[in-house]
Amino acid sequence: MNGTPVVRPRRLRQSPAWRRLAQETRVAPAQLVLPMFVAEGAAEPRPIASMPGVVQHSLDSFRAELDRAVRAGVGGVMLFGVPVAKDAQGSGATDPDGILNVATRIAVEEVGDALVVQTDLCLDEFTDHGHCGVLDEHGRVDNDATLVRYREMAIAQAHAGSQLVGLSGMMDGQVAAVRAALDAAGATEVPILAYAAKYASAFYGPFRDAVQSSLVGDRRTYQLDPANRREGAHEVALDVTEGADIVMVKPAMSYLDVLADTAASSPVPVWAYQVSGEYAMIEAAAQNGWIDRDRAVDEALVSIVRAGADAVLSYSAVEAAERWARG
Ligand code: PBG
Repeated sequence: MNGTPVVRPRRLRQSPAWRRLAQETRVAPAQLVLPMFVAEGAAEPRPIASMPGVVQHSLDSFRAELDRAVRAGVGGVMLFGVPVAKDAQGSGATDPDGILNVATRIAVEEVGDALVVQTDLCLDEFTDHGHCGVLDEHGRVDNDATLVRYREMAIAQAHAGSQLVGLSGMMDGQVAAVRAALDAAGATEVPILAYAAKYASAFYGPFRDAVQSSLVGDRRTYQLDPANRREGAHEVALDVTEGADIVMVKPAMSYLDVLADTAASSPVPVWAYQVSGEYAMIEAAAQNGWIDRDRAVDEALVSIVRAGADAVLSYSAVEAAERWARG
């Protein structure tokens, strides 16, 4: 041995052409989903301070952004409603004229052939206490009473034309309950995206701004403890058994181990959600000139796909897809 290496992995990194050919993971626009916020009664789109570049849409700006998403070639949109009035039961969630159901109808009509129009199925945007479910007389989130509301919400969303219901509330038995409700209502073709391993994360912070959440306290009695990997696998297995068509891990970047576990064991597609705080961190650092924004966005997305996500929900979806198209 004279110290000269025989194995030289750098050979395949020596030029852009080589690096392109040697690339193991690729992210395509078609596997990105854009989350969108639609605000009831908004005359103009309203910026969200903690999410630069993301807005609460008016119906007009919503339509324009849907067209932009189609042109960018992304795979779908995930809709969230921001209602004017909230109450304890989250009535706006099941009202056919509630903002989320209205937005869903518009999206399905305008772009339902080009994108998969998806809806958040959870009560937190609609409840005055900000929890993902209804409360019992002690102020605790009542699991089974919440399932009744989720069943009603699923039917309302199916009637509005939702092409995928995203169950993000983390109630026990929610997938089975919603599947049964959809089937009984004749909506057997509406698939369920189960936020199976959804952790109680600080990275949802900006989202609470985005939907003007009134939550006091936290969601630790229903979302997973960030310390728990095995429990994430348990939740995924349960949701698959209950009939989930797709399972999701959320947030993405701090949970790539959970994502890789899920990708290795799940018989159904596995998605990941790059959440509001993950987006905000990149934007904030970039605004300070501390990070190269485009490279950071791409690195985050490719890492999530490398770990095993078949699709990624990301607030950067359209902007990234447009940038890649420009080359
Ligand atoms: C619940 C829901 C939340 C997010 C998506 N669906 C909020 C929460 O669980 O606290 C967060 C998404 C994000 O942070 O980008 N409706």
